[in-house]
Amino acid sequence: MRVLLIGSGGRENALAWKLAQSSRLKQLYTAPGNPGTAELGENLEIDENDHQTLLDFALRKEIDLTVVGPEAPLAAGIVDLFQQQNLKIFGPNQQAARLESSKDFAKSLMQRYNIPTANYRSFTEPEKALEYIKTQEAPLVVKADGLAAGKGVTVAGTRAEAVQAVEEIMVAEKFGRAGDKVVIEEFLSGEEATILAFCDGKKIVPMIPSQDHKPVYDGGEGPNTGGMGAYAPAPLVGDKLQQKIQQTIITPTLRALQSEGIDFRGIIYFGLMITDGEARVLEYNVRFGDPEAQVVLPLLETDLLDIFQAVLDGNLSELSLKWSKQKAVCVIMASGGYPEKYQTGYQIRGLEEIGRQEDIMIFQAGTKKEQGKIYTAGGRVLGVTALGEEFQSTRERAYRAAAGIDFQGAHYRSDIADLTVR
Ligand SMILES: Nc1ncnc2c1ncn2[C@@H]1O[C@H](COP(=O)(O)OP(=O)(O)O)[C@@H](O)[C@H]1O
Ligand SMILES: [Mg+2]
Repeated sequence: MRVLLIGSGGRENALAWKLAQSSRLKQLYTAPGNPGTAELGENLEIDENDHQTLLDFALRKEIDLTVVGPEAPLAAGIVDLFQQQNLKIFGPNQQAARLESSKDFAKSLMQRYNIPTANYRSFTEPEKALEYIKTQEAPLVVKADGLAAGKGVTVAGTRAEAVQAVEEIMVAEKFGRAGDKVVIEEFLSGEEATILAFCDGKKIVPMIPSQDHKPVYDGGEGPNTGGMGAYAPAPLVGDKLQQKIQQTIITPTLRALQSEGIDFRGIIYFGLMITDGEARVLEYNVRFGDPEAQVVLPLLETDLLDIFQAVLDGNLSELSLKWSKQKAVCVIMASGGYPEKYQTGYQIRGLEEIGRQEDIMIFQAGTKKEQGKIYTAGGRVLGVTALGEEFQSTRERAYRAAAGIDFQGAHYRSDIADLTVR
């Protein structure tokens, strides 16, 4: 198969790495990709949001399957565009992608179908939102309705902070049209976990549970990032809880989509809050999480192209997923200053030596290649994933590998997958 992969982050490097293991893969193109994906196929200088150029390329090169990594092209309808030309493309159509592209849509779906989630109200007028805040107790969670690249949510410790968040979203329009609506939620305490699932519209098959670490510093201190690390399978989600999540959340979500006439084919990401052994949905995404993809995909033994094919054909029920018994730990190395202002353009050393080690994978994200050398080019620079038999030794190996990679200002958390401080 000739496959076109869309995106350029660590998630896409992990997807490319997994796709490259498929015996069915003939040629892999990544648009725009990064130096990591360039080692597994050919990178294209096409922006991930330039649907028309992507479509022209897929038609011209007779691409057999296009795989969409990030949410923005899905929300903007790239799947619908490709399908109109009878091209195969993996990911939900624009209507189904609303599960992620409108938090109000997702919340109202959950409410109508009794899927456990935080209580909420939505507002299109800032005055009404501000009045509502006066009647509520802090903490409150304020969310821009639309896509905001992971920056649209404020966990407000006081009413004043909630007011400020509403003003930023709706009055200052910090996130543009994504802030035309605002969702105000009850604050949930507990521990977060992620379950990704493949869905073919008729059947939904969960992957192993994972956990990511969003705050920038050890112990969960500092501002949130796109994710500073992850590990899988998450011990927090044992068999019993997993079953409960299947019964109360995963299956009901598929039924809800079906009842609404939405044919969801792709990935559903369940962002969960676990409180005293009960799970509630914080949000849905409609694609792999990053860094979760960097720990879940290395443990998947089934051919990813077989799975994608089954999702597109509505044949998921005929496939059973195989998982490695190993553990995976991913440490994200970031540019100095990230997630605030940071500088780029520093040479990265040690990639080749470390990348050759057994059961160590380096997934590149914010990098660029010039004259054979790799330089930093983004906030999250790369992910180092280690596989092993148990978490303690696996995280030690991930950290030894990270210590062998060097660039000016590099920083990473030192407590990823440290189950003793969880
Ligand atoms: N109701 C809630 N209670 C407590 N924390 C929340 C709640 N909703 C979101 N959060 C926190 O904010 C983060 C981001 O919210 P989320 O809905 O996942 O939006 P996004 O990923 O689109 O920014 C969550 O991972 C969680 O840490
Ligand atoms: Mg989230």
